[in-house]
Order: sequence, then C-alpha cells, then structure tokens
Amino acid sequence: MSALISSRSHDPRQPPAQPCGNHSTGAANGSLLKREIRRRRTFAIISHPDAGKTTLTEKLLLYAGCVDEAGMVRGRKTQRAVTSDWMAMERERGISVTSTVLGFPYRGYEINLLDTPGHQDFSEDTYRTLTAADCAVMVLDAVKGVEPQTIKLFKICAARKIPILTFVNKMDRPGGDPLRSLSEIEEVLGIDAVPLNWPIGGGADFCGVYDRLTRQALRFSSESRGRLIVPFESAELDRAGGTILTHEEAQRLRDEVGLLDGAGAPFDRERFLRGEQTPVFFGSALTNFGVEPFLDAFLELAPAPGPRASDRGLVPPEHPRFAGVVFKIQANLDPKHRDRIAFVRVCAGRFRREMEVLLARTGEKIRIMRSHRLFARDRETTDEAFPGDVIGVVNPRQFRLGDTLCEDEPFQYEGQWDFPPECFARIRCADTARRKQFDKGLSQLIEEGVVHVLTDGATSSREPVLAAVGELQFDVVRFRLESEYDTRTAVDRLPYSAARWIDAEGEPLSRITLPSSSRLMYDHLGAPLVLFTSEWEITFFREKNPNLQLSEVRGSHALRPAGKRE
Ligand code: G4P
Repeated sequence: MSALISSRSHDPRQPPAQPCGNHSTGAANGSLLKREIRRRRTFAIISHPDAGKTTLTEKLLLYAGCVDEAGMVRGRKTQRAVTSDWMAMERERGISVTSTVLGFPYRGYEINLLDTPGHQDFSEDTYRTLTAADCAVMVLDAVKGVEPQTIKLFKICAARKIPILTFVNKMDRPGGDPLRSLSEIEEVLGIDAVPLNWPIGGGADFCGVYDRLTRQALRFSSESRGRLIVPFESAELDRAGGTILTHEEAQRLRDEVGLLDGAGAPFDRERFLRGEQTPVFFGSALTNFGVEPFLDAFLELAPAPGPRASDRGLVPPEHPRFAGVVFKIQANLDPKHRDRIAFVRVCAGRFRREMEVLLARTGEKIRIMRSHRLFARDRETTDEAFPGDVIGVVNPRQFRLGDTLCEDEPFQYEGQWDFPPECFARIRCADTARRKQFDKGLSQLIEEGVVHVLTDGATSSREPVLAAVGELQFDVVRFRLESEYDTRTAVDRLPYSAARWIDAEGEPLSRITLPSSSRLMYDHLGAPLVLFTSEWEITFFREKNPNLQLSEVRGSHALRPAGKRE
C-alpha cells in the first residue's frame, strides 16, 4: 500500500533554481535575468460572477502562505472585506471594481496574480489587465457551466492567443457532471478541453481528485471546512480501493479513467501554449479539494514570460534593456497617501529603482524614483523587478494607459487599451462652488481610463457626457468624486447605446449628415465622435457620409490637439 498522508509532499516536480546574488558582468546579468524570467508566472483569473474567482484567489493565497486562514474573507456578503477588494465601494457592495495585483513567492516561483473585477460593468479594467497577463485561469461553476461573462472574457484571451487553464469549481455541489462540463467548454468556447484530473464522486460525495499526470488518487480531509490547508491521502489507482477509497469508489473511478484514457485526445503542451487546448482541473475552492494539485500543475504548465509584440517586431524578455508597458493608472489607491500609481508590467530586461527610462510616446526621459511592489492595497518599495513582475510607479503625471517605457531606442508595445463605450450619461456638479474639484476629479478619472468625458465642442461644457463600457462605472465616478474630491454630482442616463469615432481627415465636420437622434461630440483629446441610439442609425450615417471612416475606439488617426475643432 502506498497511501500517505501529507499536505504538500506528493508533488515530485522541482521548482526552478533560486535566484543568486548580485553579478557585475554582463554575462552574469544575462543568466540572472534568464533565471528570474524562468521562475515568473503572471496570470489573471477570468470567470462569470459567483463562479468562485474570489474564493479560489483566496485559497491560492492560503496555499502560498500569504494568509493563515481563509475564513476571514469568506462570508463577505455580510462582512464585506476581501483581501483583493479594497475600495470602500467594493466593500459596501461586495463586488470588485478595480484590478489589483497580488504578487507572492511559492516553491521557488514568483507568482503575479493580476486580480480583475468580477462584475461585467467593469470589464474594461479586466480587458486591459488581461493584456498584461501571460496566461489565464478560467473558473467555471460545475453546475452552471459556461456563462455569458466567461464567454466575453474568453474571447479577449483567445484573440491574444494566451494559454488558458480551466478550473471547474463547486464539484461539491449536486448537479455537476464532468463530461458535460468538458463538452460545453468545447462546444461553446470552441477550444479542446483535456481533463488533467478527474473528480472522485460528486456533490456531497465529492472526496478527491485523480491526478492523470502522476496517476495518483488523492482523497482530501474536510475537517477544517476549507479555512485551513487540508491534508490528503494519496494512492496509486490500483491500490486505492480498500485504502483511501472504498472498493466501489475505486471501481467507478477505474471505469471512468479507463474511458478517458481510451477516448480523449492527449494533452499537448504546444497546443495549450498556442491557446488551442485547455487543460481542465476539477475541484472545490470552498472546501480546498483539488486546489493544491491545481496550483502545482499550474506552476508546471503555465508559461514563463515570453516575447511581446511591438511596432519593432517581437521583443524577447531576455532583451538586455528594460522595457515595460503601463496597463493601469489608479489614483488614491491608498487614502493615506492620496497619490497616483501607474501599474507597469515589466516585459523585458531588468528594472532598477532610480533608473532613467524613455517614455516612448513623447521621447521624454524620466527617472523613476518611487517604485513599489503591490499586494492589493499594500505596497513596499522595490529596488528591482524582472519580466512578468508588476511595479507600481508613483506619481507618473506624464504616463498614459498603454504607454511603453524603455531604455535607449524607443518602441511601442502593441495592445488594446480602449474598448467601445455602450452607456452614456450627463453629469452635473451639484454644488457650483466645487466646480474646480469636479473638473480635477474628472480629468483624473479620464487618465485612469474609468470613463470617457465628452463635450459638445464648446470651450467649457458645464454638463459633460460620460461614456463607459458598463453602467456601474457611473456609480464609481460619482462615488470617487464625492469621497476623493468632496464633490457631489447628479447623473442622468442618456438614450445612446453606441459611439463611433470619426476619421474626418480632410472632411469639414460641419458638412456631415447626422440621424436626427444622434449627436456629434468630442472626447477629452478633441477627437470627434458620434453617439447613436441604434445600429440602424450607424448604417444610416455610413450611407449618408461615405467618405468618413467610423471606428469603435479612438484610433491614432482620430487624434488631434485638444481644442482644435472644425
Ligand atoms: P466570484 O468571485 O466569482 O464572484 O465568486 P465568489 O468566490 O465570491 O463565490 C460565490 C459564491 O460561491 C460564494 O457563496 C462562495 O462561498 C461560493 N463558492 C465558491 N466556491 C465554491 C465551491 O467550491 N463550492 C461551493 N459549494 N460554493 C462555492 P455566497 O453564499 O454567495 O457567499 P458567502 O456567504 O459564502 O461568502
């Protein structure tokens, strides 16, 4: 009998080499860089709300030793406090509004979990954050299967061809069917699904998982109800009956595994890395069953940072010069500091504090004096960072979303930073004496990419129009203006449902023909766009203005200096 009791000892996989100390020569720096890249894993979790993303995040932190006990966080519908949900509004409503970064070491690896908002109204933040990730974990509810928000987020990952691992959660709930989950992933998402573990039992009888890589059955103990790391017993499948499983459980598992081995396609790492196949793991984040084996498999399967596309071609992470991209800007992250942080994903080379970087868009040289490693709302000064890491750069007034920072020759990383707005509202400053703060707050929120602020072209529009991907973003604007700028506002929804930026090169805008209920406006950079109430109006507009190009997001062609209007 090879049954053993352990919480951590079953995994034969070795972590990569530990980092070494300082090296002075270029070659030594190069090998340090390579080693550090190899041990980085930077990923985001995507899911439909309520599938268990927060619970799984917390359990990953529990297993990595970042929190001692998980129960402090669960029950947040009453308690409203989650390690990765930090804004007051998030706590009040129990939803994630903004993305955060959770960086932690585990078994010799450095893991950067880019935590994204769960609510679909904040998907724009999620879309941008996915641009900074090297792979994604897709969490599905075993009973509800593939849900609408999962499909949306999956498509963003698929467009970037980033590898996706799947965790089918809530196997402890009645009604889950692993075969149905697999076929739903394949049919709805169009990606091959290969189970790398298999649930032992289901619903109330769910007691463990069979690891198809190590060919071990693992049975978990449920004593701590998921608050603490759960111990498990493991045994080879042929020896599990009568030891860690009953004979009936073992026989059923043997039958199921036999079917899987005979019928399914084998796991192909190359196809996974190309985003054509997803390895699937079953488990329960609530009870912790299957969480640790998932984390270990994740470390082995997930890619280390790789080359990134730029306007100069692919830039490898081992490139000797530092380069990074700004994927998020957030002000007042910590009310005690009231400052502004740019989240920079290091993509190549080694970052050192106090280094001088080039802002590729403007050619400006900037010395980075204050750089932090982030863990939700906590931060500590960091002196160096490697590809895959996220650093928080404090008070970078000049930075914009999507900016590339580099050394020497400027280049620009590719990525999509704006997404088509679908909701529109007029915003009014309720107290005219607070007008200055109102304007200041709005321009901050524009820079963070929380909303677009549109005007009708008049030099000072008293009641600008907000444009956002989700309606709850308006609540965030109101909430933040009130809490951070002491300014009360009123927001009135407008009937528009789409916006299209116009490439008006050479065409005087005064000559355009607008459908009667649509409206010409300008964004904060002076780019013209039209707000439409229906798809029909967009078609009408195209027919009547054949020389004008419309685009869903502001392209560089649409940019002209603010204030220059035709
Ligand atoms: P989200 O971030 O994806 O929105 O989901 P979250 O983790 O908040 O989980 C949503 C609900 O599903 C929570 O229940 C959570 O406890 C439950 N849940 C998560 N994982 C599992 C699992 O593996 N098994 C089962 N049975 N439930 C799971 P809640 O009642 O909404 O909140 P709470 O009172 O538990 O905090």
